[in-house]
Amino acid sequence: MRDLTITSVTDAVIEQMGNTADPRLKQVMESLVRHMHAFARDVNLTPEEWLKAIGFLTNVGQTCTPVRQEFILLSDVLGFSALVNLLHDKTAVELGTESSLLGPFYQQNAPLLSLGDTIAAHSTGPEVVLYGQVTDKAGVPLPNALIQVWQTDSEGAYDVQKFDGAQMDMRGNFNADAEGRFHFRTLKPLGYSIPLDGPVGNLIRAQGRHGCRPAHIHFLISAPGYRELVTALYLGDDQYIDSDTVFGVSTPLVTLARADDPAAPIQGIPAIRYDFRLGIAGSGETGRVGADPAQILANVA
Ligand code: BEZ
Ligand code: FE
Repeated sequence: MRDLTITSVTDAVIEQMGNTADPRLKQVMESLVRHMHAFARDVNLTPEEWLKAIGFLTNVGQTCTPVRQEFILLSDVLGFSALVNLLHDKTAVELGTESSLLGPFYQQNAPLLSLGDTIAAHSTGPEVVLYGQVTDKAGVPLPNALIQVWQTDSEGAYDVQKFDGAQMDMRGNFNADAEGRFHFRTLKPLGYSIPLDGPVGNLIRAQGRHGCRPAHIHFLISAPGYRELVTALYLGDDQYIDSDTVFGVSTPLVTLARADDPAAPIQGIPAIRYDFRLGIAGSGETGRVGADPAQILANVA
């Protein structure tokens, strides 16, 4: 029997976890316990605050549905997703285009569309054409690369928010052509507030933050033998371009729609050109940061 102090309790826990068979689980849990205990000592955590945190996390879990992932949202607003993304980028054998957050609104099985189609199945608003080429790091085209794209409508809402998951809109998948080129029509997205009607929203308000993301278009681009690219293009004229509430923006991903682009494959609407580069895949690829919310529990079960 050992009498515990505010410091020796940490070692007692770590000692008891010492038989963990999985070495990575052992490393992660030991570090987590050390940091959590250090945090509690640092802020002198009170029982009321501890209970409040338990209540908050319970509420975060209860807010999750098949189309809403409040835990990912919490991770996002704490910059934790951005950090894990940056750590993941460091494992790349070869870096292509900068990555950005997948976010909680990605959905598998979006409709496969033809080049030139619009991803606006139900919404209307000012149109833009997006075009470019998918290449390797050296600029060699990647034929038939798969381009998955999703965004808000021109009022800043995702389909899962507008239609409660009942129908898809403002998302689609395209295969680039034999030279890796792609183009499609879409609506100019609007910057938006992340969902603030849950516990994460309460936290954002308590912190005096605006809770908004600048307008952007998400991409998930893949080709056999290359590392999957999860990224987004951000519209540089958005008021929130320098204060993204989930820390997803980086300078190379900031772009603008041009009203007069003679090279655009569709004329008469503003155009955004962006060429994406994929790095080659390493043998120990560790997946991506984020997931289709509907798949998270299916994969755990
Ligand atoms: C998004 O860009 O879709 C997103 C990312 C993080 C939190 C909320 C939304
Ligand atoms: Fe988004």
